[in-house]
Amino acid sequence: MKALITGAGGQLGRALAASAPAGIQLIPLSSAQLDIGDRAAVDAAFKTSAPAIVINAAAFTKVDGAEEMSDLADRVNHLGVAHLAAAARRSGARLVHVSTDFVFDGLTSRPYGVDAPTEPLNIYGTSKLAGETAAGRDALTIRTSWLYSAYGNNFVATMLRLMRERPVVRVVDDQIGTPTSACSLANAIWKLAATDIVGVLHYSDSGVASWYDFAVAVMEEAVAIGLLDHSVEIIPIPSSEYPTPAKRPHFSVLDKSATIDALGHAPPHWRTSLRHVLEAIKTDE
Ligand SMILES: NC(=O)c1ccc[n+]([C@@H]2O[C@H](COP(=O)([O-])OP(=O)(O)OC[C@H]3O[C@@H](n4cnc5c(N)ncnc54)[C@H](OP(=O)(O)O)[C@@H]3O)[C@@H](O)[C@H]2O)c1
Repeated sequence: MKALITGAGGQLGRALAASAPAGIQLIPLSSAQLDIGDRAAVDAAFKTSAPAIVINAAAFTKVDGAEEMSDLADRVNHLGVAHLAAAARRSGARLVHVSTDFVFDGLTSRPYGVDAPTEPLNIYGTSKLAGETAAGRDALTIRTSWLYSAYGNNFVATMLRLMRERPVVRVVDDQIGTPTSACSLANAIWKLAATDIVGVLHYSDSGVASWYDFAVAVMEEAVAIGLLDHSVEIIPIPSSEYPTPAKRPHFSVLDKSATIDALGHAPPHWRTSLRHVLEAIKTDE
């Protein structure tokens, strides 16, 4: 079965390619090979490759950058998804789309259900929400959170760099969510892609954390396996002391119960996934 992966050079795209199940004929297309914002290019890619499944791992993911580049964020995260959905509908392909916890405003302290009201706080979240609508009811849209991997720009890579450069690192402790390994998400996506479930599902690793908790875990696990040769002081700070162009939700834990039912098991705990990713980084260094 042919599976087209868009945004194949990103964190999730690479994890999907690395974990494709037997029997899948991968068509991984990077942004250079397929710009999903270009409708004609999307149509041509469908014509050439005739995929049975399309997994959209392409996105404009610069949350702060989107505040200045709202047109570009909309072009990729909204219009690009509309192009994929139209082509998938025409050809009968199954579209699996990926969205974000940032469609929520974070003004609660209970995990968000799939039907919870959406209220994005920033342009990125707004463009991703428009993408969910564009994906449509025939698609499976999987919202995830706090994605990281052994490659690309992400919180773990930033923390390892800062912890090597500085004796003290300050990290916000009033944003609560769930770190999710791109490998863990990719494995779940392949299983869910093989079902006929449509609509919205939530997937993150298990557990909850603040960015501060996540940073402490990165340090502890990295020191334990020799990826870092020393501990650093990590100071919890409020978001008000780390102003960013885009507002972020203070709480974005996702309720995954429907996904757990569909998969037949709970996701790994985020700290277990973190250990695997740090081991992979160590192997690559
Ligand atoms: N990262 C997170 O913390 C996070 C959290 C929640 C949800 N998500 C969602 O999870 C999904 C995967 O995220 P990720 O972390 O893997 O993102 P990523 O590493 O930034 O990868 C996104 C990929 O999309 C590509 N891309 C950008 N514009 C494109 C276009 N017009 N056409 C085709 N490809 C394009 C990028 O290519 P270039 O690098 O060449 O631009 C990049 O390879 C996205 O839907 C994202 O919104 C991410």
